[in-house]
Amino acid sequence: MRYSTTLLARALSMAGLAVLLGCGTSDNPRWTIGMSQCNLGEPWRVQMNADVKAAAEEHNQEAQAELKELKDEDGKPYTEDLEVIFKDAQNDTQKQRAHVEEFVSQGVDLIIVSPKEAEPLTEPVAAAVEAGIPVIVLDRDLSQPVYTCFIGADNVQIGEAAGRWLVEALEKKGVQEPKVVELKGLMTSTPGQDRHTGFRRGIEGSDVDIVFEADMKWLKPDATKEMESALSRFKTIHAVYAHNDPGAEGAYLAAQQAGREKDMIFVGIDALPKEGQMFVREGILNATFLYPTGGAEAIDAALKLLAGQEVPKRITLDSCMFTAENVEQGGQPLKMEKKD
Ligand code: FRU
Repeated sequence: MRYSTTLLARALSMAGLAVLLGCGTSDNPRWTIGMSQCNLGEPWRVQMNADVKAAAEEHNQEAQAELKELKDEDGKPYTEDLEVIFKDAQNDTQKQRAHVEEFVSQGVDLIIVSPKEAEPLTEPVAAAVEAGIPVIVLDRDLSQPVYTCFIGADNVQIGEAAGRWLVEALEKKGVQEPKVVELKGLMTSTPGQDRHTGFRRGIEGSDVDIVFEADMKWLKPDATKEMESALSRFKTIHAVYAHNDPGAEGAYLAAQQAGREKDMIFVGIDALPKEGQMFVREGILNATFLYPTGGAEAIDAALKLLAGQEVPKRITLDSCMFTAENVEQGGQPLKMEKKD
């Protein structure tokens, strides 16, 4: 990576400020990013943090040679270019709001946040941006576009593709008026809302009957519990569409417990190699749709912003579909035909 004069000037002024405050910067990184993750209870979020960390480390290795040339006012070289401070909100919205506020008072150079919920995180993010700290929002959106940059896949598109795929799969099985269960992600989060809207669009005009829907809040145990209710209320269920793979697995386990899993098609979203893709290989899921974590893209955008460059307001990541037919070939990219 090439350092712009702005970046260099900023580094030197930071070094000067630190000397004034009586602390050398040579042990400090040049840039500090605060990252607030809404929870680390789900493999997908662990993967997102790992992707952020790997991209930052890769950048630091590339920057190492140039860092040797760059010294603070004491003449000591910087040891690291980028540091990421990770915080886990443990699925607590108030805790996550506090993270953003803490990062602002700490004076980090940039904030990455993957919010639990849209509405409550909007205000602290707006305040951070107003305080001059760029904020990248990852995966779940806010209620207003107050961030510097949003990175995520198109959940309406994914939901719609899941709906279309399911209609076709049920037709191929020759099922008439299929009875389907929809297990929704947290409906105060935008992926839950969008995966629902998209799915309903995808099944429009078909004879699919949604007999049961519930908010399983993205959580496997909640999905299992909701599926148990669905199973006890409906003698016939032909398919389950869950807004994420942990939810789809939870539903599968409930159906298996009732000895009914073979009667149903299970569809999920996320497609982590060791989760959704593995479930497809094992025959637990019939289909899963990739929901990329955006971790590497977030570090890429962060570096551009720190170098004073522009980044698009929204970066939309591509998805693909995995089924037993294509999982060994790495899935199939989503193609959306226009509906009339
Ligand atoms: C993890 C998760 C993923 C899902 C994403 C949506 O917390 O539930 O499974 O795709 O969040 O924001």
